Amino acid sequence: MIDDKKYFRLRLLKWNSTINHRPMPWKGEKDAYKIWLSEVILQQTRVEQGWDYYNKFVSTFPTVQQLAKAPDTRIFKLWEGLGYYTRCRNLIATARYIAGKRKGRFPNSYEEILSLKGVGPYTAAAIASFAFGLPHAVVDGNVFRVLARYFGIHTPIDSTYGKRSFTILANELLHPKQPGAYNQALMDLGAVVCRPVSPLCESCHLKRRCHAFTTGSAGSLPVKSKGKAKKNRWLYYLVAGHNGKLYVRKRGKKDIWKDLYEFILIESEHELSLAALNKHPEVKSLLGNIPLKRERISPLQSQQLTHQTINGRFIHLSVPLAKVPDGYRAVSEKRLSELPFPRFITRYLAENSL
Ligand code: ADE
Repeated sequence: MIDDKKYFRLRLLKWNSTINHRPMPWKGEKDAYKIWLSEVILQQTRVEQGWDYYNKFVSTFPTVQQLAKAPDTRIFKLWEGLGYYTRCRNLIATARYIAGKRKGRFPNSYEEILSLKGVGPYTAAAIASFAFGLPHAVVDGNVFRVLARYFGIHTPIDSTYGKRSFTILANELLHPKQPGAYNQALMDLGAVVCRPVSPLCESCHLKRRCHAFTTGSAGSLPVKSKGKAKKNRWLYYLVAGHNGKLYVRKRGKKDIWKDLYEFILIESEHELSLAALNKHPEVKSLLGNIPLKRERISPLQSQQLTHQTINGRFIHLSVPLAKVPDGYRAVSEKRLSELPFPRFITRYLAENSL
């Protein structure tokens, strides 16, 4: 009788070649540039959301040279809505590095791929296996879940020890001759069958030797130690301007929204009352000591990110003088849509037809 690891690998590949028909535009792609694009897009994005972005990027920039020579703002605009903008900055830097220093040749060893900006072990393993057939296993939360359930492993997946042992196991399981097909099959199984909630155990091709199926424990695997508390942020955007123009600036601060645009922002760790906002020293220092007319204030908006909850409001003000605050520029409302904004802002603008 073959051992459990061999059985796992063979049944996974068998399922993949007979039953798995999950269509995705990057599936089977051999061009390392396009694979890299898809993997960067999918880093913190669901497949359904990344799909159209991938198609937009490969049709707008069919080669790394075309991406490398496009202006930053154009690329950011195409990325708008995907969030986690560090990915986009790294994408630009890496495209220019490959098109320039490497004359368009994509690196073809795991170590070189891993050294690219914005490429971590998961993305490097995906590119190395899909584009070059190199034997590196993809390891992430989906893989941990499938392995924890199948092999009945109760080590917390968010502990250092757990991560290390799941990674070792994942690499032992990898099919050495078909690493790309194996990796994609494992991602697909985790997404469509061995789902986080309501897994389709009954129709799973691997159920016969699956610990979670045979013991009915899929609901309690994988095990996680207690999650981190999320940070709460309060953002108050002053949608302020004069004569049909609004004041915006490019965000310079080194954070997830660097290089995106924003309105005048008052940020706080707590909810602020309107009275507190009216008296806020930053409002006075930016807009001066002039009477501001408050036209409307939005209902409370919120957005859930991986490590933080963003709450806030948009406060529309008309400013009686044409004095643009330092560091800002006045943009006509029509041209706002040409600039890249964080999702928190674009969603509000779209919902309010601005
Ligand atoms: N997530 C990351 N890479 C992926 C891929 N190639 N297919 C599906 N989901 C993914």
